[in-house]
Amino acid sequence: MNLSPIDTAKFVAAKRAVDFVESGMRVGLGTGSTAAWMVRCLGEMVREDGLRIKGVPTSSRTAELARSVGIDVVSLDEAKWLDLTIDGADEVDPDLNLIKGGGGALLQEKIVATASDRMIVITDASKRVETLGLFPLPVEVVPFGWQTTKALIEETISGLDVLGDRVSLRLNGEAPYVTDEGNFIVDLHLQRISNVRQLGLVLNQIPGVVENGLFVDICDVVVVGYGDGRVEVDDINAGTHEEDRIEFVESDNIFSDITD
Ligand code: A5P
Repeated sequence: MNLSPIDTAKFVAAKRAVDFVESGMRVGLGTGSTAAWMVRCLGEMVREDGLRIKGVPTSSRTAELARSVGIDVVSLDEAKWLDLTIDGADEVDPDLNLIKGGGGALLQEKIVATASDRMIVITDASKRVETLGLFPLPVEVVPFGWQTTKALIEETISGLDVLGDRVSLRLNGEAPYVTDEGNFIVDLHLQRISNVRQLGLVLNQIPGVVENGLFVDICDVVVVGYGDGRVEVDDINAGTHEEDRIEFVESDNIFSDITD
């Protein structure tokens, strides 16, 4: 099979990020198409290199994939604290603040990333932005009174320095999309978020809001992959920028179970 440039970019970012994983670690496993590559890479290291890790998945989808590739899956309550979480993102700004939740798993993702010594984000270059907000910001809300919660969100954002103000309920066909925690998601079409810290705080003060998809001061390292196999690694704490190239053969076992 031939990997598309975008899949190559996601794969090489994942492949580089798993270099940070060592035997004995408790590792948070993100959700989404980029994180799925990382789970497959870790599975291969478990099966073929004897890597011993405990994986804490951030969604039922990731849990299923992780088990299927041979990773020892435990709950966050069993692991309690994690050495490292590797996850994708929908947008990454220069301070490594993120928008996440495009795949609907932001709540578990934020709990798991916050309970980790380190969070590494893996992404293709299209997700790097100067200012967050073009990607609609997901906010998880409880189903009870969701329309009132949505109206309160609309009122709140109208007083803030954002460009757009449309809020839409995420759908799965005709019905509301339901998260792993049994909640709904509303997407905030803000175009540009001037103050991510303020927005994250005020959203979480609205009754009915469970969590929002802004990850502020949580991500430590971003690994950006490119369609030609190049990767860039930025570590915000160390202030370092590294460039590398990942060599791989598409006949590897890891490509044999690709369905998406
Ligand atoms: C899942 O809820 C999200 O936070 C994902 O991590 C994010 O949407 C990135 O997904 P992709 O890797 O599929 O773009």
